[in-house]
Amino acid sequence: MEKVRELIDRLESQRILTKEEFCFLIESIEPEDRVYLYERARSQARAVYGNAIYVRGLIEFTNFCRNDCYYCGIRRGNRQASRYRLTREEILECCKEGYALGFRTFVLQGGEDPWFDDDKIAGLVREIKEAYPDCAVTLSVGEHSYETYKKWFDAGADRYLLRHETANPEHYAKLHPSAMSLAHRMQCLRNLKAIGYQTGCGIMAGSPWQTSENLAEDLLFMRDLEPEMVGIGPFIPHHETPFKDKAPGTLELTLLLLSIVRLMLPRVLLPATTALGTIDPIGREQGVLAGANVVMPNLSPLNVRKKYMLYDNKISTGAEAASNIAELRQRMEAIGYEVAVGRGDYPGSKVIPSAPSTSRS
Ligand code: 5AD
Repeated sequence: MEKVRELIDRLESQRILTKEEFCFLIESIEPEDRVYLYERARSQARAVYGNAIYVRGLIEFTNFCRNDCYYCGIRRGNRQASRYRLTREEILECCKEGYALGFRTFVLQGGEDPWFDDDKIAGLVREIKEAYPDCAVTLSVGEHSYETYKKWFDAGADRYLLRHETANPEHYAKLHPSAMSLAHRMQCLRNLKAIGYQTGCGIMAGSPWQTSENLAEDLLFMRDLEPEMVGIGPFIPHHETPFKDKAPGTLELTLLLLSIVRLMLPRVLLPATTALGTIDPIGREQGVLAGANVVMPNLSPLNVRKKYMLYDNKISTGAEAASNIAELRQRMEAIGYEVAVGRGDYPGSKVIPSAPSTSRS
C-alpha cells in the first residue's frame, strides 16, 4: 500500500511518526511492505554497524524475586519454581569461561533478590571489572533507588537493562500487581540515564491486552528516552502464572517492532532475544535480518539454566549456549554477518576505563 510505504520512508528520513501514524503502520502493513521495512532497517543497521553482531554473555545469577509480575515464571507467587542463587565464585567462574570464549560483555541478570544487597552487587561488579578491565558489565536486576544505581555505577557497571514493559499506565496495571507502577519504572530509567549508564528499556511483543495504540506509545516513549539499548521479544506464556492461557506474541509482530525501532533509533543496540529464538528455530536470524545487531548467549552454569524459566520452553542449549559460540558464529555467517569481538558499546558513548594500569589491551 502506498500510504504504508510513504510512512516507512518518512520514518527512515525523519526518525519519527505521529502516534496515529505508528498505529496505522502497525495495523495496516501487508507482507510485501514488511519485507521492504525489514530491508530498510537492515540497511540502517549496516550503515552504523556494518555486518558486526555483538555478543553478550548472560549470567542469570538468581531467580529469587520479590515481585509478582503476572507474566513472569520466576514471580514470587510461583511456588513450583526451584529457586537458586549463584555464589560469588560461581559467577566469577562464568566470567572466566566467558572471557576465554571471547565475550567482552557480561550481563548479570536476576530477579529482584534482596539477598544480593547493594554492597554484594557492588562487590561483584568491582571484582569482575578488576579481573577483566577490558570488559563491560551490564546489570539487569530491576528497580532500585538512585543511590543504589549510583553506587553500582561507581563500582564500574557500564550498562543497565530495565524493560519498561509498556508505556501506558493502565496497561502496566494489567501486567503487574498494584505494588508496582509505571511512574516508578520510568523514574528508574531516567535515573539510570542521568547517572551515565548506557540504558536499555523495552517491551514484550504481544503481551496480554496490548493494543497497537499501546505500541505507538511505547515507540514514542523510546524516542523520548533515547535509550542506548532496546529489548524486544515475544510474550510467551508460562504455565505457572496467571497468564498461562494467554496467547503468545508472534514472530511477525516482534520483527515489525524491531525494524521500526531500528529506523527510529538507528544506532540503538538491539538484541535478537532468546524469546525470539524460542518461538521460532530461526527467530534470531530473522531478527538480525530485521535490524537487530546483538545476541546474548547464556553463560549460566548448566545445572541452573532450566531454573531461570521466565516463560515455557525457554531455549538454553544449541546456539543459545555461550559454550556453543562456534555454532552461533556459523549461523550468523550463513546470513552474511560476523560475530564481533570487543565490548560493543553504543557509538559515541563515553567509556570510562577501569584500572588502566592493569589493562590488557
Ligand atoms: N514471556 C516473554 N518475556 C518475558 N519476560 C518476563 N516474562 C516473560 C514471558 N512470559 C521478559 C520481561 C522482563 C525480561 C527480563 O523478560 O520483559 O523484563
